[in-house]
Amino acid sequence: MHTVEGKTWDEFWAHLWQIDYRHAIPHIPEWDKKLVEFIEHVCRLKPGMKILDLACGSGDQARHFARKGYHVVGLDIASTLIRYAKNRFKDENLAGELFSDDMRNIDFMDEFDSCLILGGSFGYFDYGGDLELLKKIHRGLKPGGRLFLVFRTIDRLYGKTRIWSETDQGWLLCEERYSENDRVSYLDWFLVTKDNTMLRMKRECGRSADCVIRCYSPAEMTAMFTEAGFVSLKSYGGNDFSIPPRELPPERLRNIIVGVKP
Ligand SMILES: C[S@@+](CC[C@H](N)C(=O)[O-])C[C@H]1O[C@@H](n2cnc3c(N)ncnc32)[C@H](O)[C@@H]1O
Repeated sequence: MHTVEGKTWDEFWAHLWQIDYRHAIPHIPEWDKKLVEFIEHVCRLKPGMKILDLACGSGDQARHFARKGYHVVGLDIASTLIRYAKNRFKDENLAGELFSDDMRNIDFMDEFDSCLILGGSFGYFDYGGDLELLKKIHRGLKPGGRLFLVFRTIDRLYGKTRIWSETDQGWLLCEERYSENDRVSYLDWFLVTKDNTMLRMKRECGRSADCVIRCYSPAEMTAMFTEAGFVSLKSYGGNDFSIPPRELPPERLRNIIVGVKP
């Protein structure tokens, strides 16, 4: 019989998932490198430009940008992840500004050449909150600056899915339930350790963690970007980093949308 242990979001998600598990996924550095090259291409970036990485997690993509000579500002609500990211920057002697805050608090004006929301880190708020965030990002970009955002689409989500992955510590389960009524995806995380303890992530959704994500159709995201003031919108498939880019292939679990501040 399993012992069940509740873990906080920080212990479970930040440590077990983002730090321990993500970094053990084979080819993840290669994946991040390709993603960064794709972003440079579609956002027309050049080293020296200033980038805001919102919800930067453990700073994996931010480090790639910093190595290439970009001025990176990374922000994440999880202080554990920001501490980890800062240490990794220090290990490599990389320059960058990393700080822990809620992305809703950003208050920049005409400052960035690009803003990134990667890994499906959009949809943590209600519709009004998500739109407000887009407007704040728009304000923080320089004219001509681009927002590159990965979002969860509604089109490929049906009922409940379970994904098991083997980790060094045991078996990690992500259970996802999409609610058509609420238009959000509820995620539950478990880890069955090798000594038969089941670790369960406690729900702390009040702090906008990774357990409730609002999903949008590509058409809804287009309307939202337009309302926030972005133009020249382009969409790409969430896992397709081909250069030259292929514009909007069939809808996927995650899609990318890029908009320009005029
Ligand atoms: C799916 S992870 C993506 C991390 C990183 N962008 C990547 O692709 O590896 C989502 C991140 O969003 C952060 N997050 C959640 N709510 C946030 C908020 N309100 N403000 C800032 N960061 C937030 C979490 O701490 C987590 O690191």
